[in-house]
Amino acid sequence: MRTDYCGLIDKKFLGQTVTVKGWAHRRRDHGGVIFIDLRDREGLVQVVIDPDTPEAFKTADSARNEFVLSITGIVRERPAGTANSKMISGEIEILAKDIEILNTAATPPFQIDDENLSENVRLTNRVIDLRRPAMQKNLRLRYRVAMGVRNHLDKQGFIDIETPMLTRSTPEGARDYLVPSRVHPGEFFALPQSPQLFKQLLMVAGFDRYYQITKCFRDEDLRADRQPEFTQIDIETSFLNEDQIMDITENMAQEIFRDVMNVELGKFPRMTYGDAMFYYGSDKPDLRVSLKFTELTDVMKAEEFKVFRGAADMANGRVVALRVPNGATLSRKEIDDYTQFVGIYGAKGLAYIKVNDVTKLNEEGLQSPIVKFLSAAGLQAIIERTGAQNGDIIFFGADKAKVVNEAIGALRIKIGHERGEKDGYFVREWRPLWVVDFPMFEHDEEADRWTACHHPFTSPKPGHEDLMDTDPGACLARAYDMVLNGWEIGGGSVRIHQAAVQEKVFAALKISPEEQQNKFGFLLDNLKFGAPPHGGLAFGLDRLVTLMAGAESIRDVIAFPKTQRAQCLLTNAPNAVDEKQLRELNLRLRQKAEPAA
Ligand code: AMO
Ligand code: AMP
Repeated sequence: MRTDYCGLIDKKFLGQTVTVKGWAHRRRDHGGVIFIDLRDREGLVQVVIDPDTPEAFKTADSARNEFVLSITGIVRERPAGTANSKMISGEIEILAKDIEILNTAATPPFQIDDENLSENVRLTNRVIDLRRPAMQKNLRLRYRVAMGVRNHLDKQGFIDIETPMLTRSTPEGARDYLVPSRVHPGEFFALPQSPQLFKQLLMVAGFDRYYQITKCFRDEDLRADRQPEFTQIDIETSFLNEDQIMDITENMAQEIFRDVMNVELGKFPRMTYGDAMFYYGSDKPDLRVSLKFTELTDVMKAEEFKVFRGAADMANGRVVALRVPNGATLSRKEIDDYTQFVGIYGAKGLAYIKVNDVTKLNEEGLQSPIVKFLSAAGLQAIIERTGAQNGDIIFFGADKAKVVNEAIGALRIKIGHERGEKDGYFVREWRPLWVVDFPMFEHDEEADRWTACHHPFTSPKPGHEDLMDTDPGACLARAYDMVLNGWEIGGGSVRIHQAAVQEKVFAALKISPEEQQNKFGFLLDNLKFGAPPHGGLAFGLDRLVTLMAGAESIRDVIAFPKTQRAQCLLTNAPNAVDEKQLRELNLRLRQKAEPAA
């Protein structure tokens, strides 16, 4: 029997005989004495095997990395000067009496403590990768967060109710993963993009406070913070307004950070969507970076310089400046690199002014390729509005607002993270906020139609109902996002609980009455049976844990994630299936799929 975990044995155990079981992390032969660092889920312990115990010595001699061992021995102090204060077991070692090899191991594809592995290698060999202490730590953190959530919500009277995985397509805006039905030839289930409609129906059914920690599936372009299947902490309540729902979920986030991280998040500030876009060009601003946009669209309408004037006069055009304190020291090469960087977001250039002397608004005081194209009044406005000081650099974005917001928004974060700490415009802290007053609709330029900004079950702000017909772009929603350090970690809304309003929103989205009935009849019908006012929110658990773990990608907090190309390298899914399976499902492939490159 194991008496203790390797990583937990410390000086309290001195003189005791212990039995530990685990993996041979490292084995060193020190001229006649063998050292094995034995690893289990709690960490490492150093084991010394002396030739005086010949049986044990022989076994230890044949052990290799990752062999599974059972070791019994006496805990003793490490010799002076060899202690390792970073480990719980750093001051002791086990002098082995007995060693048993419980299993051998093939040579692992990489050293467990190799820090420079490509993600492909890690994901292909995920089981070995998961043995790494960093991954063990991440998954335990994830568990602690999930338990914290369950405890918190349980105390608040929420109950966990499961909702189906095989269901109908729900419109969260992504593509569905479909599952063919064998029993109903030619028909398909969709995997849920979220439990949205079911949780609303649970409110109609009278459950009042629901939560679920559940998988959601979305076939969309993947990024560092997106997976095709991910986990939501999904919450819905009845009879509460947006302030009350935000309070409940904010309290939960605060409690989780307090319990798991020992961090006080404090009260979350609220920012309107309009302000977030105006000052940060983003609906999930990273408030650790204090740089803000300066609006110049109005000023540039009076200038000749065509790059700025053109954008200022464009419908949906925007011109902004971003002042970077002490940025005048940036080299030509650094500015070129930033210019290339904003190019990723579609910016056609990155005009700049280095401010050498604010009292000389000409090419002497302002070092820049564009100063000669701007009027004295224009330059004056730029310096005044940005509040530029000698030694600063001012960058400019001029284009469609979408391009400017994305390009200069990304530049703001990049410069903030790279240079802000030393120049005082970046703080390494937690900066949560609520973004509120989202628009109901956004215009899809390609399809020339309105789509729901959150989802089509979100209620318009009181008084904004009529705008749905007259000016959809101005209609605001009772929606809110929780944002932390530049990541959207949760989003929700007060829902529509009246069938007539729901039908009106569908109409604004150009969903015909037939289509409404066909796709959402089950919702509309049930809203008519006395639906209570209701609303909720869903957290992205993977994102939340990624931030808490300080990990780079959500793949580092998911045991078996998919790659950026939506594959599982461990199991090689997705994969071709045989003809018999297809036939059973009444499916025929349109053409042989191209083999993956
Ligand atoms: P939403 O679509 O905003 O809202 O999703 C809620 C939260 O889930 C996380 N998230 C993701 N995480 C990883 N990979 C993805 N592909 C992914 N997509 C979303 C985000 C996001 O904030 N039914 C509504 C919620 C509601 O209205 O109550 C919904 O799903 O952190
Ligand atoms: P050009 O007239 O194209 O040589 O551009 C003059 C300056 O404006 C250069 O520094 C460009 O990088 C910059 N620039 C060009 N297009 C844009 C744009 N859309 N937004 C911001 N700066 C731009």
